[in-house]
Amino acid sequence: MSDKPKATITALGHYVPDYRLTNAELETIVDTNDEWIRSRTGISERRILKDPDKATAFMGGEVAKEILKNRGIEASEIDCIIVATVTADYLFPATACLIQREIKATNAYGFDVSAACSGFLYALTTGSMMIESGRYKKVMVIGTDKMSSIVDYTDRATCIIFGDGGAGVLLEPTTEDHGIIDAIQRCDGTEAELLCQPGGGSLNPASEETVKAGMHYLKQEGRVVFKKATESMAAVSLEIMERNGLTNDDVDWFVPHQANERIITATGSRMGLDPSKVMLNISRYGNTTAATIPLCLYEWKDKLKKGDDVILASFGGGFTWGSIYVKWGGLK
Ligand code: UT7
Repeated sequence: MSDKPKATITALGHYVPDYRLTNAELETIVDTNDEWIRSRTGISERRILKDPDKATAFMGGEVAKEILKNRGIEASEIDCIIVATVTADYLFPATACLIQREIKATNAYGFDVSAACSGFLYALTTGSMMIESGRYKKVMVIGTDKMSSIVDYTDRATCIIFGDGGAGVLLEPTTEDHGIIDAIQRCDGTEAELLCQPGGGSLNPASEETVKAGMHYLKQEGRVVFKKATESMAAVSLEIMERNGLTNDDVDWFVPHQANERIITATGSRMGLDPSKVMLNISRYGNTTAATIPLCLYEWKDKLKKGDDVILASFGGGFTWGSIYVKWGGLK
């Protein structure tokens, strides 16, 4: 027990669209094949939000509703909604405001966090510090991305990877010895353009030329990102384990960002973890950017036990990366 409150995860929610974009369907769109995709990425299918009138905020709204339902509380009890996304419905207003409107969280404020695949971890750290301050009691942290809105379906190197989806958590204070224990977050913009959406921002505002040049699509130097992701996720996870006195045996669960199964396997192996402790669901969803980590937590919620030592880790555009140590407190 301690006097200072820590933030603990008390409820989870998720939303994935029904439509399954399989490797077989991708074979009809670009020059690729199921064997290449599965062996190079571990992905078999991803979900796509087909309804043109629905986007990232819709998925985040469904996540928020499920969190409220699972926790058994009213939207008016929410103090803040933090949304991690790189595919906001609008450049502004923030997706958080659209979710607030959808669920009628009349006492909340909210904002978006842009940190690509590390967005959820950055947002979780921010939310946990808000709870630790004592000023906020219920903070929603949601990762939601409609990646299909920025993916070029003529580029076989990227279109096979990404999918749409959302998931999130509710943070509340606890004085017990569990919750968000520690976080290490980093960014390095030296190679920012190696994973980037070049058009549509203030540098290259949308114009006929930018659209013709495909600048509104995500661009990635896959091999460089692959190498950096493997090195950085393992290093930052080992760093947080060491400074909290955790050995590989102590770690009960590793929750990596789901970008490529080979990155995840290599990271787990560098950390000396038994593969059974590594959460892996990329085969069914692909890379949903800000949603991958909470989507794993959601799917493993019945296996997570109170007191489990859980390490979350991510790497993404920016470059951004980080690791968070959670002692699982159990859901309410
Ligand atoms: O979440 C944000 C962070 N993102 C990541 O962490 C992604 C990191 N990168 C990756 O996951 C991998 O680099 C990719 C999956 C993007 C690509 O896999 P790779 O093993 O690095 O392939 P590569 O780019 O080195 O390409 C190898 C070959 C090339 O052919 P040649 O030049 O050797 O003849 C590509 O043209 O594979 C070819 N290729 C494909 N073949 C069939 C690339 N994409 C495909 C494809 N189907 N979809």
